[in-house]
Amino acid sequence: MKILVTGGAGFIGSNFILYWLKNHPGDLIVNLDKLTYAGNLENLKSIKDNKNYSFVHGDICDKSVVDRVMEGTDIVVHFAAESHVDRSIINPSDFVKANVLGTQVLLDSALKNKVKKFHHISTDEVYGSLKLEDKSTFNERTSYNPRSPYAASKAGSDHLVRAYYTTYGLPITISNCSNNFGPYQFPEKFIPLAITNLLENKKVPVYGDGLYVRDWLYVEDHCRAIDLILEKGNEGETYCIGGLTEDINNLEVIKKILKILGKGEDMIEFVKDRPGHDRRYALDWSKIKNELGWEPLYGFEEWLRKTIDWYKQNQDWWKNVKRGEYKNYYKKQYGTE
Ligand code: NAD
Ligand code: TYD
Repeated sequence: MKILVTGGAGFIGSNFILYWLKNHPGDLIVNLDKLTYAGNLENLKSIKDNKNYSFVHGDICDKSVVDRVMEGTDIVVHFAAESHVDRSIINPSDFVKANVLGTQVLLDSALKNKVKKFHHISTDEVYGSLKLEDKSTFNERTSYNPRSPYAASKAGSDHLVRAYYTTYGLPITISNCSNNFGPYQFPEKFIPLAITNLLENKKVPVYGDGLYVRDWLYVEDHCRAIDLILEKGNEGETYCIGGLTEDINNLEVIKKILKILGKGEDMIEFVKDRPGHDRRYALDWSKIKNELGWEPLYGFEEWLRKTIDWYKQNQDWWKNVKRGEYKNYYKKQYGTE
């Protein structure tokens, strides 16, 4: 089986490739990645000589490279995207290009090459924002209401994927997952930013009042869910994938990290809020549980400890990432070094 993974040098994509080659060693993986600031081939150095793995440096918006790598592909797993909300507020056009146009180029090529499955990775952010006081959750039938340029571009990509199924019969599946965390996550996102700042004895910037709620999914649980969807998911279907957190807010997440690292709450620094900040995400993942038999392996705290251990043991990885472009981004975003 030949699997084309897009964005395989990013956080979730690289975890997925490592997971896949461990669990399906006979399959061929081609990783197409543009290597933006978020792409890092260091994540994949343990498999770089594996004869079943190859890397192609290219942009999903580039039809010629996409057509070339698509040839002979059985399954596409599409992760490639601009993925950070704060950067989408600074520069929305990169998000529309990569997430909307890039997805359409891939869909066209997948159709032309008659791929057997096209799995699109999306986000719960397409559904908008829930109220804090409200107990409701998002599910596969929730109407789209994206509120950031990132979420709007992902919503656009989801609509295109469904349109290619309805109009042309392309065999697609979609998953909308909650906030991932785990090894190799770029430290612009909340959990790795907090852990690595604290390991450097720097404060953790918390937006607004810190009472924003996210659902947290460990990346390996996410990879297992995608595996099940590829194996047993129904064509044309969407699956929501979430974790075992129940309405935990950002301050509570930070307090857990501080406790595990033995640091005090004086390391929290409240900073200016993100414009249009979505208050609460909560996801009902009973469909994938009931239909495909998926659930997370462990609870949030256990996976969080494992994640913190990984960042403690892989300081070279994130210290390298925090050099260069990251420094400029951090200064622009937070006003400090
Ligand atoms: P990431 O930013 O860590 O990695 C994205 C990867 O895509 C990078 O390797 C980058 O080089 C590559 N890429 C970007 N534009 C490209 C282009 N035009 N052509 C080829 N490659 C390109 O992102 P991630 O956190 O691994 O997210 C992967 C997917 O999962 C995205 O589609 C994202 O929307 C979705 N998602 C992420 C989360 C999360 O919490 N991280 C949650 C829900 C959904
Ligand atoms: P983030 O990791 O950017 O994911 P998303 O915005 O896609 O949910 O942020 C997670 C939550 O943490 C979100 O409510 C914003 C908040 N946050 C902070 O409080 N401080 C930060 O420095 C960052 C990056 C995020």
